[in-house]
Amino acid sequence: MDDLRDKYLGLIAEANDESALENLRVQAVGKKGEISLKMRELGKMTPEERQIAGPALNALKDEINSALSAKKAGLEDAALDERLRGEWLDVTLPGRSRRHGTIHPISQVTEEVSAIFADMGFAVAEGPQIDSDWYNFDALNIPGHHPARAEMDTFYMHRSEGDDRPPHVLRTHTSPVQIRSMEKQGAPIRIIAPGRVYRADYDQTHTPMFHQVEGLAIDKDISMANLKWVLEEFVKAYFEVDDVELRFRASHFPFTEPSAEVDIRCSWEGGTLKVGEGDDWLEILGSGMVHPKVLQNAGVDPREWQGFAFGMGIDRIAMLKYGIPDLRAFFDSDLRWLRHYGFSALDVPTLHGGLSG
Ligand code: PHE
Repeated sequence: MDDLRDKYLGLIAEANDESALENLRVQAVGKKGEISLKMRELGKMTPEERQIAGPALNALKDEINSALSAKKAGLEDAALDERLRGEWLDVTLPGRSRRHGTIHPISQVTEEVSAIFADMGFAVAEGPQIDSDWYNFDALNIPGHHPARAEMDTFYMHRSEGDDRPPHVLRTHTSPVQIRSMEKQGAPIRIIAPGRVYRADYDQTHTPMFHQVEGLAIDKDISMANLKWVLEEFVKAYFEVDDVELRFRASHFPFTEPSAEVDIRCSWEGGTLKVGEGDDWLEILGSGMVHPKVLQNAGVDPREWQGFAFGMGIDRIAMLKYGIPDLRAFFDSDLRWLRHYGFSALDVPTLHGGLSG
């Protein structure tokens, strides 16, 4: 019996995983284990022998069982220690910083403008940035000899040799979208068309690519009064003021008759712009009643339909609202200045929910 004891206690001490321990348990004290078989032999013994061997076997069984569970606990502790050694974490390390994106102010202002006009029933329309000279000029009542063509510092696309059709142009304004939208949709129509436009010009307030938003409303009896109301509502919402004074200045565009440039009352006290008060006037857009020839060119009958159009510089109103002094900053690659003007990734106005964040 001492042999059995030494054998199993030795094997248990040496076991180095739980399945080896389980095998030992079955071998020693399982139903057909060595100790159990020995216990079965008790029946064949004399009562005297049994009195000694019985308790001894029971004690041995208990001893082996407790050696098994002690060893099992030891193995579990060791496994846990091992895991903890492998998985340590230094909670004092500084966090990893992530780069933040910001929405570009032009995109933000375009969204703001679109949302404001959407509230007044204007849908957003788009047109190509490379357009034919028909859409950019002729259809808008700007014939070849017209000084407006020369004034617009147009970028012309290249034509292959021998192709003497008039070259396509980088659109100089968003007005061609008026024609394309009326062709597609007819009248009545109420759209705005934000987008990129191009002119060969570069200084503090001009970049060769900039952004405009066109407005167009055609119906049976649309007048300059409607234009004025729509623009007043827009300016109040965009500059976040309760009241604003607009001034229509007679002007000339080949595609509107009459034409007017629109100024808003403002002050520049201390170098910062305040809209709606003061003695200064700020020009923000060109506008007018769509010329009958333009309607005709777009397939809309001018005896039946009339309406207004306007074109506004998005970069310009972005500079004004956010106090950005140099237009060229919009197109620099360094975005740190954006943060300086308070643009953050979370400040995104949407067509559907106003300003979030
Ligand atoms: N297209 C004109 C410009 O670029 C602006 C404008 C649009 C004027 C619509 C009148 C009507 O200067």
